[in-house]
Amino acid sequence: MSDLKVLFTHEQISRRVRQIGQKITLDFAGEQVLLVGVLKGAAIFLSDLARAIELDTTFDFISVSSYGNEKHNSGEVKLLKDVDQSLEGKNVILVEDILDTGLTLSYLTKILLAKRPKTLRIATLLDKVPRRLTPINVDYVGFEIPDEFVVGYGMDYAEQYRNLPDICVLS
Ligand code: IMP
Ligand code: MG
Repeated sequence: MSDLKVLFTHEQISRRVRQIGQKITLDFAGEQVLLVGVLKGAAIFLSDLARAIELDTTFDFISVSSYGNEKHNSGEVKLLKDVDQSLEGKNVILVEDILDTGLTLSYLTKILLAKRPKTLRIATLLDKVPRRLTPINVDYVGFEIPDEFVVGYGMDYAEQYRNLPDICVLS
């Protein structure tokens, strides 16, 4: 459990994140957006994405129970920290590091929609398409990846590797 192979370099990630930022800038031209990051994995993606968006942009964070130290999701999602503000009437973009089974985002979508935002979009840096158990409509995707466990650029295994600049496959 310590072999790391680079899947996306920091340069590749930066280029893609800038493109997503430009797309959001066009999609919400003249409006304000609120980025809601899912702690802790999405923190680095959110901080780069926020700087690639040329609009009035604010951010907030939400936290849900994670895999613990396991590599696979137990299927249970629990809210550990809610957003700090009202989402009513706002353009909310939920920012996630990786979309896997879809259980986390389907749970979060329900919670956030209940707060009556003007719009709710989802941005995920990675999408592990073959692992999906629940259908999810994502609006902005960085990269589609196969069923491999990845770390770096915010993503962890047992809290390790979040600070790697590249996204790596851990085996
Ligand atoms: P889902 O509910 O199965 O879609 O799980 C999504 C969450 O699981 C993500 O927010 C990640 O925190 C975590 N996760 C899924 N796959 C990986 C991975 O390959 N590396 C690190 N975390 C992962
Ligand atoms: Mg996550």
